[in-house]
Amino acid sequence: MIIEFDNVDLLIDGRKILDRISFCIEEGSNTFIMGPSGSGKTTILKIAAGLIFPTSGKIKILNRDISNIQDLYVVRENIGFVFQYSALIDTLTVIDNVLLPIKFRKKREFSKNKKEYIAKAIEILEFLGLKGFENYYPNSLSGGMQKRVAFARAIITLPKIIFYDEPTSGLDPISASQINYMIQEINRKYNITNVVVSHDIISCQQIASFIIFIYQGKIVFKGPPNELINSNNSIIFNFFNLNRI
Ligand SMILES: Nc1ncnc2c1ncn2[C@@H]1O[C@H](COP(=O)(O)OP(=O)(O)OP(=O)(O)O)[C@@H](O)[C@H]1O
Ligand SMILES: [Mg+2]
Repeated sequence: MIIEFDNVDLLIDGRKILDRISFCIEEGSNTFIMGPSGSGKTTILKIAAGLIFPTSGKIKILNRDISNIQDLYVVRENIGFVFQYSALIDTLTVIDNVLLPIKFRKKREFSKNKKEYIAKAIEILEFLGLKGFENYYPNSLSGGMQKRVAFARAIITLPKIIFYDEPTSGLDPISASQINYMIQEINRKYNITNVVVSHDIISCQQIASFIIFIYQGKIVFKGPPNELINSNNSIIFNFFNLNRI
């Protein structure tokens, strides 16, 4: 298992945001974390990335306990993050946005192997259908293209895991479908375990191999997509059929 959450609780101002969250994510999977707004999906990603610490419980990523700062440091070297609003830097070109983590994390290595890294960035952009856009600025690209630049920036360090927060939100169905395809291809080509936060039922059906469904800070389901869709749990039934919980 590449990610293990064991009884993770998070309390903020006496309010339980996460309640005994336990799950395992298999290496090489496309795992979806689903659930309605405010259920705690983004919070789980932030905890997995070590951006916030839980009140109690244990988290192991790549077999390392991330409450240990040295282990967290190693884990962070091996994860990529795609934030909800792409979070590109407007004053940098596409390629400079993609190279940012290398320049930031591996300054010396970058200046030694600049050419190779630039070639690698171009190769990844091409793989994501962005050939020829290297010198554009993010605000001249569509939302779907900006998302793909954010993907390229997450891939450049060749992490073992990428976390995506709502990668298709705000996109039209065709762009969303392209993004889902890309996520699947990232998994195939680079052997990256994808953890995708989403409330998009179509995306989940297209690519998820495993789903964790959260409701009000608790896990109400974990398993493969066909089991989720056929679930007779009323929370899940309402989410899929009425979409108004
Ligand atoms: N720093 C914080 N301080 C107080 N409450 C917080 C904080 N961060 C998150 N919360 C609360 O925790 C709950 C879960 O938030 P979270 O952002 O994880 O939900 P989500 O499932 O990602 O929702 P959405 O689908 O809208 O993005 C919400 O009720 C939110 O108000
Ligand atoms: Mg969220």
